[in-house]
Amino acid sequence: MNYSLFDDASNIRPWTETICEGAAILRHFSVNREAALLDGIKQILSAHPFRQMRTPNGHHMSVAMTCCGEVGWVSDSDGYRYSAYDPENGEPWPAMPDSFYSLAVQAAQEAGFPGFTPDSCLINQYQVGSRLSLHQDKDEKKFGAPIVSFSLGIPATFLFGGMQRSDTVQRYHLAHGDVVVWGGPARLRYHGVAAIKEAAHPLLGTQRINLTFRQAT
Ligand code: SIN
Ligand code: FE2
Repeated sequence: MNYSLFDDASNIRPWTETICEGAAILRHFSVNREAALLDGIKQILSAHPFRQMRTPNGHHMSVAMTCCGEVGWVSDSDGYRYSAYDPENGEPWPAMPDSFYSLAVQAAQEAGFPGFTPDSCLINQYQVGSRLSLHQDKDEKKFGAPIVSFSLGIPATFLFGGMQRSDTVQRYHLAHGDVVVWGGPARLRYHGVAAIKEAAHPLLGTQRINLTFRQAT
């Protein structure tokens, strides 16, 4: 397949786009380094497939999820929390692959957060039409570490708001290879993902996969 974007290496030169103090998008950060991520995802899915979790009020989320790391993020009628076990099969979540860990640490460092030690990686699968409503990431024990969020596959519109749900939301186009990092004064900013538009990606087909790294415990 002739994927002309990659014919010109200058198109994939990484660069950092600042969102606000504490938040940035590392454009093209994981382009040409995604093979290990895709391979790791495949391994994780073989024993812990994507599933649409239920929110505490009983609705299925449109995003399907799985996890790796010491703990994984889970949601059911008891609420949102981190658990060392996959509720679908009672098995511990698989270890975070070294390649995931080192890319996440590098991305955090690049965005101004050295010493990131993620113990959890949530893997989100978005199909066309999937969306994630505005929320804060606040199920972690402490908020000293940033959130590091990799985009793979078809594009998304990332919504980045303020400290209140009603604050104005900025919209950012996220493409395959982009990484969003938010921490420090931006750590608890509301964020979400608009409904995914129809598209196809040469490596991932008609889906978007997001890897969100956190220090949860
Ligand atoms: C999340 O907020 O957990 C995921 C964000 C994304 O999919 O980009
Ligand atoms: Fe989030």
